[in-house]
Amino acid sequence: MPERVITNDAMEKIVETSDEWITSRTGIRARHHAVEGEYTSTFATAAARLALSRANLKPEDLDLIICATVCPDQALPSTAVLIQSQLGAKKAAAFDLVAACSGFVYGLTVASQFISTGLYQNILVIGVEVLSRYVDFTDRTTCVLFGDGAGAAIVQRSTDANRGVLATRIQSDGDFAPVLYIPGGGTKIPASHDSVDGRQHFIKMKGNELFKVAVRSMEDTARQLLDEQKMTINDIDLFVPHQANQRITDAVAERLGVSLEKVYSNIAHTGNTSAASIPICLDELVESGRLTPGTTLLMTSFGAGVTWGGILMRW
Ligand code: COA
Repeated sequence: MPERVITNDAMEKIVETSDEWITSRTGIRARHHAVEGEYTSTFATAAARLALSRANLKPEDLDLIICATVCPDQALPSTAVLIQSQLGAKKAAAFDLVAACSGFVYGLTVASQFISTGLYQNILVIGVEVLSRYVDFTDRTTCVLFGDGAGAAIVQRSTDANRGVLATRIQSDGDFAPVLYIPGGGTKIPASHDSVDGRQHFIKMKGNELFKVAVRSMEDTARQLLDEQKMTINDIDLFVPHQANQRITDAVAERLGVSLEKVYSNIAHTGNTSAASIPICLDELVESGRLTPGTTLLMTSFGAGVTWGGILMRW
């Protein structure tokens, strides 16, 4: 995909920052930004095509498309139906799911319910964001963190009783809504000259407050999922947390006591891609041969809302 790689050196030319500051505070060295002509549905459709081909499915086999994003192509209609049209997935129902960085975990949780009831056989869950169109490139506290990307998964009923989703958990606390938000563009502050002049269409964040909640909620979720399955952290082969900040990942891993070689991190070259972060990790793990049938995988996420959640599964 021809998106642009924005290194920390390139960031130094945009805002007053340094490679040293960004690397030491976040672990991020580069992030990707969509180029002109690319937008959320084009990213998502590319990821979806890859997932379909790996699953040996045709677009018309899909029963449902869930697009987890906070970066829709446009306010109406949903990005999911635009993806449906680009794919030619005529039979599928399609909707967007807005849970910020937890979107993919929320989406997998919803999909696994439809599979459990037997209503649907083939569900496409996409996590996709083009946050570069929502970050304020005059705000160094946010613009260095976020990147663009997409990842997708096909959810089907497993024929092997030992494989699949073991436990899921999704939660939210709207009292934290003012900690990470975009004020403008909705019904409260519709687009106007004033809203644009006031930079109301960009992400606002209180990073310090989020940091603590992120660590606590991902740790709690992981413990709850493991307890529910009467498992310990030693039963896990791979821990894939949402990639928000390397220091958050390290803190959660340390509190859980998970050995470092089991913790997956790609934030150095992706930045925080919100709902796309976990599926991009899964794709890299599959590609590198680290995620193979039978692997016990723990995923945890955290994001604006605040929302958080986790999935314990055997791949
Ligand atoms: N470059 C250089 N300096 C920067 C900077 C940047 N890009 N961004 C902030 N600073 C400065 C601040 O202005 C502040 O300066 P001051 O002490 O003179 O006021 C100083 O660095 C420390 O800022 P602070 O916000 O306390 O840093 P931090 O250690 O908390 O790190 C975050 C900031 C954003 C990296 C960190 O809080 C974080 O990652 N939070 C979670 C954010 C997140 O994950 N959001 C998405 C949730 S899914």
